[in-house]
Order: sequence, then structure tokens, then C-alpha cells
Amino acid sequence: MTDLPILPSGFRFGASTASYQIEGAVDEDGRGPTIWDTFTHEPGRIRGGDTGDVAIDHYHRWEGDLDLLAELGIHDYRFSIAWSRILPQGTGAVEPRGLAFYDRLVDGLLARGIRPVPTLYHWDLPQALEDRGGWLSRDTAEALGDYVGVVVDRLGDRVRDWITLNEMSVQTLYGYALTDHAPGRGLGFGALPVAHHQLLAHGHAVARLRAAGAERVGVAQQHFPVVPASGAMEDLVAAGTFAAITNWLFADPLLAGRYPEELRPLIPVDDAQLAEDLALISAPLDFYGVNYYEPMLVEAPREGADYAGAAEVDLPEGLPFALLPYPSEERTDFGWAIAPDQLTAILRELRERYPNLPPVVITEGGASFHDGPGADGAVHDARRIAYLDAHLRAVADAVAAGVDVRGYYTWSAFDNFEWAAGNDERFGLVYVDYATQERIRKDSFAWYRDVIAAQP
Ligand code: BGC
Repeated sequence: MTDLPILPSGFRFGASTASYQIEGAVDEDGRGPTIWDTFTHEPGRIRGGDTGDVAIDHYHRWEGDLDLLAELGIHDYRFSIAWSRILPQGTGAVEPRGLAFYDRLVDGLLARGIRPVPTLYHWDLPQALEDRGGWLSRDTAEALGDYVGVVVDRLGDRVRDWITLNEMSVQTLYGYALTDHAPGRGLGFGALPVAHHQLLAHGHAVARLRAAGAERVGVAQQHFPVVPASGAMEDLVAAGTFAAITNWLFADPLLAGRYPEELRPLIPVDDAQLAEDLALISAPLDFYGVNYYEPMLVEAPREGADYAGAAEVDLPEGLPFALLPYPSEERTDFGWAIAPDQLTAILRELRERYPNLPPVVITEGGASFHDGPGADGAVHDARRIAYLDAHLRAVADAVAAGVDVRGYYTWSAFDNFEWAAGNDERFGLVYVDYATQERIRKDSFAWYRDVIAAQP
């Protein structure tokens, strides 16, 4: 393909991964168990009974994996640090072998000319902390701050870019309100304290990173553009409520120092404490990470309608909104709608909603297509190329409309353990054969490399 998407000069191309999804080696070098180790070993939680016990064995194969990233030519590599490798019990004793692993990884990236962009928390809460209340406990927020202090002390001389937490909304909603993700608590609206405590943890993390002189600090947030199913008042209200829970509950405190009014009563602190907490939570960021996959179509529940299986997640009955399949001509093999125009739309919406929106980095974007090696041994994933092409152009459209977007990190560098969906969903530019751990560059790998090389 000669007509490659071109972004403004200085735009950063990257790829993302997360510790539990790639590392494996769950019992090695003193790593403590996490909520995902527990959850994946409970029968019926994960499609096919898969676990992250081995994943893509990155813990042992990291050097070869970094060589692939260097060949890809990415500027930035976003990976996550497993809290329980550093502090196996979440608090207390530090495990030097865990720190040493990330130390080697950072040096390996720098030696290959790639900028390390670690995420400090990508959902793998130490089980010991879950046993003490997990994210329902305010103490977990402080514990995260202390853990971040340990990490930045060790890596802060070489790492300049930091991401605090990944997708607080997804962990709150899927892990604590529903039961799809670890720890699978199913608390409904009782999960709201989790949102506040993760936001507070972010605030503590930012404070620690700033105190240690970090250069660029950001966060990675899932943003589902929410589209009302019709212009009828009840659908607009339903869509507004869903958007408040999935998007603004997290972005408003971070970027505007307030909670959406209708959700304030569910936040478990008094007004004085809240003001103090929000001051910490809304400390200025150097970039705002947006993870984008698909929009959500929302309507007010109709009498007698059966919504089971209609959308990606099944919601409990009795909520003031219902999810429908977003109408798109094409879907990924995971069943997700392909709607690049909605990426442009959510970026514009963020800019309009937040006058102080910092520069944006798309910290995740990508698609699961199941293509595997063909008779020629190669993986011809033309649909992923088309997907990435369209989404990079959607970013260029947002830039043209005045949104300051500075980078795009594709999810993911490698096929990996896709949470509740196990190993069947394949998001990588690199195919992984789970039986042999062989890595095979997909066609999209060469295409992404060419895109990066073609930039001004
Ligand atoms: C998460 C990733 C996940 C990806 C695809 C994001 O919600 O941050 O860990 O693999 O989406 O589902």
C-alpha cells in the first residue's frame, strides 16, 4: 500500500501490552498472587478455561520480544508493571527480583532506542490487598501511592513518561459492579466507592511521580462514545446516564475536579474530604491517554424487551438504560463494531467538555481478528491493516478539527491473554502460537513499520 496515513511531525507511534496478559511466570522470583490469578482459576470464569499462568511467556522471552519491537520501529512502548512482583503482599516487603526484571526491561528498551512508557497499574491487584477489601477500601489507594514511590525510586532515573492507572472504569464496572472481570464481585451501584478509590490512587501516584521529578505523567482511560438509539427524550436521558457512569464519572474528577452531580451521592466521603480528594485527583497531567475500541448504542429499556446477548456485556435488569448492538457494517472477530468516525467524535467531545484537556495520546486502539498462519506460514491480516489505517485517519481528522493528539499506541504488540475471553481473541501485530511460543510477524506488523517509516 503506498497511500499511508500521515500524522503531524513529532507524532509518537507506539504499541501497548499489560503485565498479566503477557508475562506468565506467575510463581517466579517472588511474585505474589493477584486477583487475576485467583479469578482465572475459578471454574467458568474464562472462556476455554484459559489462564495467564504462562501467557506469552514474555517474562522469559523479553529480549526477543524487544528485538521485534525495535524492528517494528515504534517510538514508545507502553507496558505495565505488576505491583505484586514489586510488593508481593501489596504493602510491606519489596521483592528485589521483581524490580530487577523491570530494570532490565527499561534498559533493554533504551538500548534499542525505544522510549519506555510504563503503566503502574493495569488491573492486577495483589490478592493480599483484595483480601483486605481491595478497591472498596480507601487504604488501597494509599498502598498504590507507596508502591509507586518504590518503582519511581528505582526506575525514575531512566523513565521519563508514566501512566498511573489503566481504565479505572472497566475495572470498576466489569470487576466490581458486574462479574465479568476479576475480582467478579457483582455489587451493582455498590461498586461506586471503587471508582473513588482508584481515582484517589491515581492522585497519590501523580503526587509521588511529581515529587520524584517525573517529566510526563498521564493516565489511560477507556472512552466509549455513547450514542442514543433515537432522538426521543427517554433515550437521550438513558444515554446521558450511561455516559455519566462509563465516561464522566472518571474523566470529570480528573479533568474538571468534580463528579457528575447525579453520582455524587454515591461517593462515600463527606464534602470536606471530597474537596481535599478532588484537589489531589485533578492535579494537572501532561497527557491524557484515551483507549478507544467501539461506541455503545443506548436506549431507555422498553417494556418486555429481552436485551440478553444484545451487546458486549449483559447488564442486570432494572437499570435506567439498555445496551444495543451499535449498527456498523463491519465488526471485528470479537464482535465489536468498527466505527473510526466515533473515535474522532469522542476526541472532539473531550476537547469541548474540558477546557483544560491536556494533549491526548491514544494509549490503546486495535482489534481482534482471528487470522492465523496460512499454508505459506504467514499471517495475512488485511482486516487489521484496514482497521488501523482507518483509525489513524480518524485521529488525523481530530487533529485537523483542533484536538491536540500526540500519539497512537496500538493494542497490541503481541497476541496475548484477553481477560475473560482467554487466548482466542488475537489483538497482536505479532501472532503467538501458544503451544510453541513461536512469534510470527503478521502482515500488519510490516504495514505499521512502513507507516512509522513514512512519517515526516
Ligand atoms: C484493556 C486491555 C484489553 C483491551 C482489549 C482494554 O480494555 O486495557 O487490557 O486487552 O482493552 O479488550
